[in-house]
Amino acid sequence: MDARSPLVSNFIEAARAVFSSTKLDDHTASALSDVFETITSGRPISRAGRETFPVCALVEPRLDELERTDEGLRDVAQAMRPLLPHIGWKRRQPGKNASDNFMDGHATGMIIGPGGAEDREDVWIGMTIMGPNVRYPDHSHPPEEVYLALSNGAFRQGENEWFDPGIGGVFHNPPGIVHGMRSGDAPMLALWFLPIVPAPAWN
Ligand SMILES: [Fe+2]
Repeated sequence: MDARSPLVSNFIEAARAVFSSTKLDDHTASALSDVFETITSGRPISRAGRETFPVCALVEPRLDELERTDEGLRDVAQAMRPLLPHIGWKRRQPGKNASDNFMDGHATGMIIGPGGAEDREDVWIGMTIMGPNVRYPDHSHPPEEVYLALSNGAFRQGENEWFDPGIGGVFHNPPGIVHGMRSGDAPMLALWFLPIVPAPAWN
């Protein structure tokens, strides 16, 4: 018997469908297959009504917009909405190159992973929401990472040029690479998928 909530299954299937209709490079495809193979069986969903931060209120309007305007991401947006009360929200400390508005201007929400709607240790799948004109600090972590952009916004890897993958854009951060992101005049929302979760969780 699968203990997974249909709310989580729906999200996984919607995300998988987006990736299967996106052209992926080999590193991205391999990281994603590790993620999805790890989560073939599920766990019960966390209780609803968890702590949020004011910036989390920016998520639903972005999902509304995607449902209205983006055929490719509509199912993901629809699947994310009922998960919102179950998500484990956190904020990280500012770090290198963070903007002054960073603390109040961001939150990270774990969907599947430690403290997430489906609480487990072997993957991290979640989202980052940022208000307008927020710069997320440069950081790195041992697990590789795949991003799925749900809004416009810019990313940087190492010393490379900033790039906006576009709404629905997918890219891969190799293990340990220094990376950062920044929003423009609108809020920024992105999903991330990380196979393998070493401790400590955030660095
Ligand atoms: Fe990251």
